[in-house]
Amino acid sequence: MSGAKGFKSRYGPWALVTGATKGLGAEFARQIGDRGLNLVLVARGRDELARVAGEVRGRSHVEVKTVVADLCRQEFMEALRRETDGLEVGLLVCNAAHPLVGLFFEQSLEDKLKTVEVNCRAPTMLVHEYGAGMLARGRGGIILLSSGSALQGVAYTASYAASKAYNLILAESLWEELRERGVDVLGFMPGATRTPGFEQSRPRLERSSLAPVSEAGPVVAEGLRVLGRTPSWIPGRRNRWSLTLAQRLLPRRRLIQLVGGNMRQWYAR
Ligand SMILES: NC(=O)c1ccc[n+]([C@@H]2O[C@H](COP(=O)([O-])OP(=O)(O)OC[C@H]3O[C@@H](n4cnc5c(N)ncnc54)[C@H](OP(=O)(O)O)[C@@H]3O)[C@@H](O)[C@H]2O)c1
Repeated sequence: MSGAKGFKSRYGPWALVTGATKGLGAEFARQIGDRGLNLVLVARGRDELARVAGEVRGRSHVEVKTVVADLCRQEFMEALRRETDGLEVGLLVCNAAHPLVGLFFEQSLEDKLKTVEVNCRAPTMLVHEYGAGMLARGRGGIILLSSGSALQGVAYTASYAASKAYNLILAESLWEELRERGVDVLGFMPGATRTPGFEQSRPRLERSSLAPVSEAGPVVAEGLRVLGRTPSWIPGRRNRWSLTLAQRLLPRRRLIQLVGGNMRQWYAR
């Protein structure tokens, strides 16, 4: 895709980003605004949404709407429909996630089910709702935030990793279903990235340097650059090589132990 103009005509005029108050979601909002698309930003935090919306309007001079919604709740779609009625949403970024770090049997069932609701049910509903319009128009883009943790079992984040595997497989499947119908789909798999969510999980990074921690800006830029070129992508050359090599060379059992060992070093208290 050549430049911001090509991006806008392929994926504009409106983009919808969930989880846009901070971290990767706020960065998606900034960088999509920079490409000239208007934005609908979704999250629970009203004040934070207003702050990001103001920032994006100020730097990119695009229209920005905000929708306060909790993606755990089944009725979130009604609030979204009210705001997006009549808008041509050509780009959907399903970024919001319920993060869950810790041992499976030390987490409440309610918390585990939230990972299914926010990370799996909500993206499915959003793709169903906004993907249909894209298909009818014969153009559009969908980015589903997965994670390097989608590629194998990950101790200390079992439900979250499983939810990210759902997003990866959903994206890759839709990529094949839609690629000849003008809609680009990407399963995007960042490794550890410095965001408020990642920092709140309090990883003890000094105990293991297995995975480098990336910055949100370059990660998001890479996602927007590869949309339309591949069904799925791991941003960052070092992450891409190490994850791809580990997948190819290590027996599954050894891989799961290696990743689990790293998580234990980061998160065992
Ligand atoms: N950071 C990493 O290391 C990393 C690595 C791999 C993949 N990812 C993926 O990248 C995405 C963004 O991660 P991040 O680290 O930037 O997250 P973050 O800093 O924790 O931000 C999460 C965003 O999601 C929103 N959100 C959370 N629960 C929500 C709910 N129930 N309803 C609506 N919005 C909700 C939050 O806003 P409110 O609290 O205002 O609702 C916030 O805007 C996630 O899908 C994550 O799985 C991150």
